[in-house]
Amino acid sequence: MAIEWTANDESGTVRLAETLAGWAAPGTVLALDGDLGAGKTRFSQAYARGIGVKDVVNSPTFTIIKEYQGALPLYHMDVYRLSEPEADELGLDEYFFGDGVTIVEWASLIEALLPPERLEMYIAHLGGDARRIAIKGIGPRYAAWVRDLQRMGAR
Ligand SMILES: Nc1ncnc2c1ncn2[C@@H]1O[C@H](COP(=O)(O)OP(=O)(O)OP(=O)(O)O)[C@@H](O)[C@H]1O
Ligand SMILES: [Mg+2]
Repeated sequence: MAIEWTANDESGTVRLAETLAGWAAPGTVLALDGDLGAGKTRFSQAYARGIGVKDVVNSPTFTIIKEYQGALPLYHMDVYRLSEPEADELGLDEYFFGDGVTIVEWASLIEALLPPERLEMYIAHLGGDARRIAIKGIGPRYAAWVRDLQRMGAR
């Protein structure tokens, strides 16, 4: 089940993030990919705010994993600089199957380590501030989310 969300500007990306944040539950995993500078971190910031994180959320490119506390924990990762064996050393399942939400930037680089059920998003530049966000729900819970997004106007 895959759809596309068109964001004409940053507010469109924020709206998607806020919607998904409203559905956050322990064990939620969002796997983000996309062009360099497309908005993976911007999406994550809006999502964090949506679940009540008050701290400033920065790009985790150098820290690899940052943990925040909102209504539930948020584990924000960027695996761009890691090889799959290095990522495997981190014991990511502790996060994926933990009490919070995990957002992984550049998730496709560690595809073999991702949990079997997740929401996959690919953010692509459309020119200027416009973005096309391809969204795929893997597993029944995420497939239901994708259907709900479709009802909200994603196609
Ligand atoms: N529609 C949009 N959605 C998201 N960000 C947007 C949009 N329009 C403009 N921007 C801007 O694009 C930039 C996106 O940067 P961001 O760091 O979020 O990208 P990224 O995908 O995380 O990059 P990286 O590949 O380095 O991790 C921000 O400066 C943001 O303000
Ligand atoms: Mg980023």
